[in-house]
Amino acid sequence: MNSKKQFILWLFWYRKSVVRRSFKVTSSFKMFVKLFRKCAGSCSFIGDNIKQVFRNYSAESHDGAGLIYKEYGDPMKVLKKVDHVLSKSTQSHPMEGRVIVKMLAAPINPADINMIQGTYPVKPSLPAVGGNEGVGEVLAVGDDVTSFKEGDWVLPSSPGFGTWRTHMMCKPSQLKLVANDIPLISAATLAVNPCSAYRMLKDFEHVVPGDVIIQNGSNSAVGQAVIQIASAMKFKTINVIRDRDQPDMDALKKHLKSLGATKVITEDFVRKPEMKDLVKSLGKKPKLALNCVGGKSATELARQLENNGTMVTYGGMSKQPVVVPTGSFIFKNIKLRGFWMTRWNQENFKNPESQDMLDELCELVRQCKLHPPFCNLSHIDNFQDAIATAMKPQTNRKELLIMDEKYLDWRYE
Ligand SMILES: NC(=O)c1ccc[n+]([C@@H]2O[C@H](COP(=O)([O-])OP(=O)(O)OC[C@H]3O[C@@H](n4cnc5c(N)ncnc54)[C@H](OP(=O)(O)O)[C@@H]3O)[C@@H](O)[C@H]2O)c1
Repeated sequence: MNSKKQFILWLFWYRKSVVRRSFKVTSSFKMFVKLFRKCAGSCSFIGDNIKQVFRNYSAESHDGAGLIYKEYGDPMKVLKKVDHVLSKSTQSHPMEGRVIVKMLAAPINPADINMIQGTYPVKPSLPAVGGNEGVGEVLAVGDDVTSFKEGDWVLPSSPGFGTWRTHMMCKPSQLKLVANDIPLISAATLAVNPCSAYRMLKDFEHVVPGDVIIQNGSNSAVGQAVIQIASAMKFKTINVIRDRDQPDMDALKKHLKSLGATKVITEDFVRKPEMKDLVKSLGKKPKLALNCVGGKSATELARQLENNGTMVTYGGMSKQPVVVPTGSFIFKNIKLRGFWMTRWNQENFKNPESQDMLDELCELVRQCKLHPPFCNLSHIDNFQDAIATAMKPQTNRKELLIMDEKYLDWRYE
């Protein structure tokens, strides 16, 4: 017998037994809790951790097409599309304290891939919906919800949210408001990469106009956001990228310069004697280094720092550990720090700085000072091609899943 039926039968028995015997309320309540927990543990639609599952795959939230994985592994194998229909009445009349969101677009980021592979520190309870970032539109709110209204654009406020789906029902606390007068692609890609870039530029060193920042992985989405936010703040940037074929290299350098990069160089160039001249030409050594690669690339960044400078590691794309020259530690007193946007969000959930940051970034978007990375737009039905492309190196584009066909024509290039 399945657990839903078990639960209904128990309720039946419970009602009858209350009439038959006047047994103590306390013991029946305890029994109810025990049985509910038992059912919750075995029901596929409730799961053993209600709060966690609600965020991922509860009956409340798997209300539309979604990309689900039931086990960790290769995203190409474990990710499947499921279709559930959110009833019209639920769409227009959500439960009290709930918001109905129609997802519009969601990117495929490295962390999404790692989460499905089971190698990311956040492991959603399974089955889970893929995707951590994206923008949705509020379709309806429960009677007592005052923080959102129909038509608002929202971003998820926590990781493991499962943005690769068409609809969901969630709590207001799981959402953040974002301006709906900015381009869809900007909104869909704002919460993770530009916010990380913004925090790393603000929170580790007192950087002032004219100061120099060096980074690797500079063509990544975070790297491009760093270039643009730094340029808006009048900081100079040295941007390290991996070597590639000449026509691609020229095009990439041109693109990063058009975003505001001061210098764009290859990993090889950083090791050459000419690097000294390049730094000299900027008038200052870098105060801040941002590392998303690790290995030798991180070693070279650390070597370029000025005395007392800081290197912030926020990614490990090479899968190599961070190796730092002993001399930089001893004689230059450099600092090594780590950054994780998820932790910042958890620690600053109620901090007004969180909304201020989004507002400031939206303003940069409006002023055309912050562009999203180039994106390939794919309908959610064609997710397999998009995932395969996202896992290839040197694509220079972000894969973006579009949930509603009418947005497939969005282009900003
Ligand atoms: N800590 C945080 O809060 C946080 C927040 C956001 C992102 N991140 C991390 O930041 C990194 C970049 O994320 P993203 O979304 O901006 O990435 P993205 O747009 O997908 O770009 C990936 C970048 O990684 C480079 N790359 C790929 N494989 C590499 C390898 N084996 N060695 C060296 N470089 C390699 C790529 O260079 P090519 O073009 O040459 O392939 C490209 O620059 C990821 O590690 C991500 O997890 C961390």
